[in-house]
Formats: sequence, C-alpha cells, structure tokens
Amino acid sequence: MNILVVGAGGQIGTELIPHLQTLYGEDNVIASDLKKDIVSQLKESCRAIAFDALDMNSYREVVSQYKIDRIYNLVALLSATGEKNPQLAWSINMGALINSLELAREYNCSVFTPSSIGVFGHSTPHVNTPQDTVMRPDTIYGVCKVSGELMSDYYHSRFGVDTRSVRFPGIISNGAMPGGGTTDYAVEVFYEVLKCGHYTSPIPESTYMDMLYMPDALEACTKLMDCDPAKLIHRNSFNVTAMSFSPKELFEAISRRVPGATFSYDIDPVKEKISASWPDSMDDSAARAEWGWNPNWSLESMVDDMLDAIRVKLSL
Ligand code: SER
Repeated sequence: MNILVVGAGGQIGTELIPHLQTLYGEDNVIASDLKKDIVSQLKESCRAIAFDALDMNSYREVVSQYKIDRIYNLVALLSATGEKNPQLAWSINMGALINSLELAREYNCSVFTPSSIGVFGHSTPHVNTPQDTVMRPDTIYGVCKVSGELMSDYYHSRFGVDTRSVRFPGIISNGAMPGGGTTDYAVEVFYEVLKCGHYTSPIPESTYMDMLYMPDALEACTKLMDCDPAKLIHRNSFNVTAMSFSPKELFEAISRRVPGATFSYDIDPVKEKISASWPDSMDDSAARAEWGWNPNWSLESMVDDMLDAIRVKLSL
C-alpha cells in the first residue's frame, strides 16, 4: 500500500509519518507539505515532496506518479488562526479536502481527514456529548469541519469512496508544536513551566475540554483506516477522547511533579469563546464499539511522559 500524507509538516503529520513507516514500511509512505524548508527537514527521515494541495494538477501528478492508495489529508488552519482570516481558512481547509476527495474518487484511494471537537457549538449538549447530536459550530474552523464530514460521507454514499475520520479533541504531544489552536495551551504549558517555572493560561481555569495524548491519536489514525468496513455504522466522523480536564486540573497535576511551578491567567477572549462552545467531555462509545477504539493514556501518565520527554528535548 502507498500512503500519502498531505500537510505532513504539522503537529500530527511529523509523528504520523514514523508511525506509518513502522506499520507499512518506509518505502510506502510519502510525506508532503507546501513549504520547501519543511520538506527538506522531512527528507532526513522519509520520502518527501513539496506541493500545494490546493493546486489540483500538482496534487494529481503526485497521486498518479506514486500510485497512492491512501491519503491522510492533514491540511488545515486551526480554530484560533481561522478566526483571524475566515475566508483563508475556508479556502485552505475546504480546498485541500475537496481535492483529496476528488482524487480519491479518480484513483480509488481511501481518505482520512481529521475532524474535530470544533464541529460542536453552544447548542450542543456539553457533557457526554453524543456521537450523533446538534452540530452548529461558532467558528469557521468548525464550519469547515462539519462541511468536511458531510462531504466525506457524501463521497462515500454517492461515489463509494472509502472515507473515514475521527473528531480529534486537543492533541498533546512533544514533537512539532501545534499552532493556532484553542487547545494548544495544554502543550505550551509544559515548555514554559520547564523553561521558566511559570505559565500564563489564555483559557479560563475551569473550562473543560477533551484531550488525547499523541500515541493514542496515531493509533486512531491507523486503527480506523485498517478496520473491517463492514463493522462501520458511522464513517465521518467518530468522537474520540481519552481524558477531559480543565487548566486548573492540568496545572495541579504538573505542580505535583514540578514543585514551585506557578500559574496565572490572561484570558484570550477569542479562545475563551471558542473553548466555552466546545464539549466538556465526549461520548466515544461508537468508536469503541465499531472499530475497537481503546486509548491507553490518562492525564497522570501523559503528564509524566510529557515532562520526561520535554526535559530531554530542552536538555534539562
Ligand atoms: N486542536 C484544535 C484547535 O484547538 C481542535 O481540533 O483548534
């Protein structure tokens, strides 16, 4: 199987590439990104090419030349960045998706596009948010993700394209930094606390959001794509979560391990509004029942591992 990861230079892509290489073989994974400097870096550890996923001709050439069977479409502006330029967010997020779906139809590829907790909004039930519920997001990012879910299901029912996806919550990781997301605070805090002993949170102390540690997120990306399609009742997209916490709870867990760490709050009004509109905790029972989703990492084990990994990264 030949796998193409589009938008591979971001938080998920940089860790998905080695995960895919382990599972499917180094020669069968192609990383791509728009930015040439990122592609040069990627080339140190994998086959990588630079192209613009919004340019259908270049995208088609890559899919055809490398005989691609599976596309991971990771191209997206995240929620907070999207609010700064909604038109750009729509054109990038939807443009890459539509091109991926069209090429998947032409070349018979399967497609994974991450959806997000961003599909939900103020009118969604916030506690134990059901798999099938109100999806009226308040952000352009969420509007793109809902549209993406609908288009992906449409391409499956109308053209038989094998589209599958999960609604990722915040993803916590120690590789490439996330950028422009509302959940990024849960990554940034580890670096700041270890570097300066202090973190100022843009998210209010008692706002709960779902989170996943990266190893579980990677498992979701491959387990769903490799599962028996006969078992899938849903496709686009599955709620997945491993933990739900507030900044206060995360900071307490860090304080227990980094004595003397201090925290303050300087609330970002855009992120405050977005985080308040998202679920406190999602029900991921459909993912568990239909394709065996079963995350391994908890808040406590994640905090231990993050602190160890970032200490090494910062040579502390
Ligand atoms: N992590 C994303 C964001 O905060 C949510 O999918 O935008």
